[in-house]
Amino acid sequence: MSLMNKAIVATLPLVPKPLVRYFAGRYIAGDKLEDAVRVTKALNKRGMCATVDVLGEEVDTREEALAAVRNYKEVLAAVDAEKLDANVSLKPTMFGLKIDKGFCRENVAVICEEARRYGNFVRIDMEDSSCTRDTLDIYYSLRDTYDNVGTVIQSYLRRSLADGVGLAAVKANLRLCKGIYVEPREIAYKDKAVVNANYAFLLDVLLGGGCYVGIATHDEKMVWEGLRAVYKFGLKRDQYEFQMLLGVDAELRDIIVGQNHRLRIYVPFGTAWYPYSTRRLKENPHLAGQCFRNIFVKYEFK
Ligand code: FDA
Repeated sequence: MSLMNKAIVATLPLVPKPLVRYFAGRYIAGDKLEDAVRVTKALNKRGMCATVDVLGEEVDTREEALAAVRNYKEVLAAVDAEKLDANVSLKPTMFGLKIDKGFCRENVAVICEEARRYGNFVRIDMEDSSCTRDTLDIYYSLRDTYDNVGTVIQSYLRRSLADGVGLAAVKANLRLCKGIYVEPREIAYKDKAVVNANYAFLLDVLLGGGCYVGIATHDEKMVWEGLRAVYKFGLKRDQYEFQMLLGVDAELRDIIVGQNHRLRIYVPFGTAWYPYSTRRLKENPHLAGQCFRNIFVKYEFK
């Protein structure tokens, strides 16, 4: 990251929240479930499927975690009622991971059960490295009962080489991404080239090992690595998918769909948009810079 971008990212907390919301609008369907339904319908019409995420993370109370369970039940019901081509993605810390691991597991199990009733699927997102072990434990424990659950592996983590081999051995259903949280060097690779090389390595281990992989990236090089692995292992269209975030690189989305690959878009909605939005803006210093410049434009004209 350039010095300028680093400065922009460091000053994001100074940006007034309404301005952050305005610039991050492209990444979020809206505040309400009906917004996620509308956006998903539009994506479905363009040949893309979706994974719907209720925004929220790091809850402190059991009541909040149980509210998350209720919200996700509503999402699954709406997906079914509206006949959407969509599954759900959820964050373990929204389901109480930081309160009690067993409590979190039970809450996620309720959603797996509900999804199974609808013939749907649950993706457990991967959060920062303090959650990795527990998230994988919950995933391994749930897959004993549910075949409609998957999780995520991050190529920036040093541990992912070993985790990837273990997950391939059980033919896990995975999303592969680079990883977005700020981690110390002993935990995560800092060199982008190594993160990318690890991404390509994990694609081979996972797709070669018979895992269903959601190849989640907007990086043309990693998309190519995905295609390379798909051709190398002679995979059929239903044995993998590409995944992208709402609001990022619509042109690349159309190219992937135009080549007849399955593409799933991550569709977040809800009122707890701030942490998700700032993570996205940090990935896109151009937008974050616009956000930042707006504060000064505002003050100049006062
Ligand atoms: P990279 O960061 O190199 O970006 C490649 C190019 O994409 C950039 O040059 C830029 O042009 C564009 N781009 C990327 N992000 C952008 C943005 N926000 N706005 C505008 N342009 C952008 N992470 C995690 O830790 N746990 C998780 O569970 C998930 N889940 C997840 C689901 C899905 C569907 C996706 C696509 C991504 C995630 N991620 C995630 C985030 C992921 O780890 C990663 O941070 C981003 O995808 C960015 O990495 P890229 O592979 O796109 O490469």
